[in-house]
Amino acid sequence: ASAAQWPREGTASITSQLKSGYNHAVSAMWQAERQLHKSMFIYPVFVSADPDLEEPIKSLPNQYRRGANKLIPFIATLVAKGLHSIILFGSPPSADLKNASGSAADSSHGPIIPVIPLLRKAFPDLYIIADVSLCEYTDHGHCAVLFEDGTVDNEASVARISDIALSFAKAGVHCVAPSDMSDGRIRAIKLKLIDNRLESKVAVMSYSAKYASCLYGPFREAADSTPAFGDRKRYLLPPPARGLARKAITRDLQEGADMIMIKPAYPDIISDARELSNVPVAAMQVSGEFAMIHAAAAANVFDLKSMAFESTEIIVRSGADAILSYFTPEFLDWLS
Ligand code: PBG
Repeated sequence: ASAAQWPREGTASITSQLKSGYNHAVSAMWQAERQLHKSMFIYPVFVSADPDLEEPIKSLPNQYRRGANKLIPFIATLVAKGLHSIILFGSPPSADLKNASGSAADSSHGPIIPVIPLLRKAFPDLYIIADVSLCEYTDHGHCAVLFEDGTVDNEASVARISDIALSFAKAGVHCVAPSDMSDGRIRAIKLKLIDNRLESKVAVMSYSAKYASCLYGPFREAADSTPAFGDRKRYLLPPPARGLARKAITRDLQEGADMIMIKPAYPDIISDARELSNVPVAAMQVSGEFAMIHAAAAANVFDLKSMAFESTEIIVRSGADAILSYFTPEFLDWLS
């Protein structure tokens, strides 16, 4: 048959025609599983204990470490554009303030504790999450308390992580997000919240499936948290594993997690979390992926904005309800 006759002759059937369903920008938009919305974005910010500091993070394009006096006015510009939520990461203290228990993590001198009430007061509608971890504050750079032989002391880690979570809760965050992967931490945090009558005021977002990925490099530079020895492969999940992630998600839900986070934003694992949970699923487009998109765009591999959209839309298509993204400020403009 000639091209003009196709598909009237031959084997094509009516149901083989797809293009008619998305041949217009509007009908194509309707094909999206869900539309991106500003409310889906959680912006990661790096908080410094020095109130006047504002310093670019070399490894993370357009991202800064900011002390309270710089952070509040900056967040105000984003709230005006429709920012709904932030997650707080601590900037590393000077080396002399780092120690084995990461005591600076919940120090009243900061970085995190003093900025929480300031943010609550300045932005009454903003949903404030605090990453709960030790790695920025330990002298060894691991996210855990260690035995003398350098392996993870799970029990001591859970005790320490849940104490930090409680301190952040008392300071007024809406949500604590433990990123350490210690076994039993969600239950321990929940019990401490109950003991302190904060159980209805503070949510727990579990980094349930946190993989031992190469994609955290820029963050570790930002947080000065590259492990001094060893690596995190014994407490973060092996990238080829899927069943372990499903087990961790199920376990954390049973321990009372209010939300689940997947990191990096691997689509199959997000989709598993969606299937296994009856709670919101968040995913983090991590520092290495963000830096990679910037680097590839600078090398003309693709257009930055187009790739920012594509990579984020895939995270949402996979089943995420919320996205932790360093592109949040741009999306607040792009989605206006
Ligand atoms: C731990 C933590 C890390 C990230 C989020 N929380 C770093 C790590 O586990 O080494 C990574 C975030 C990113 O790469 O953007 N505090």
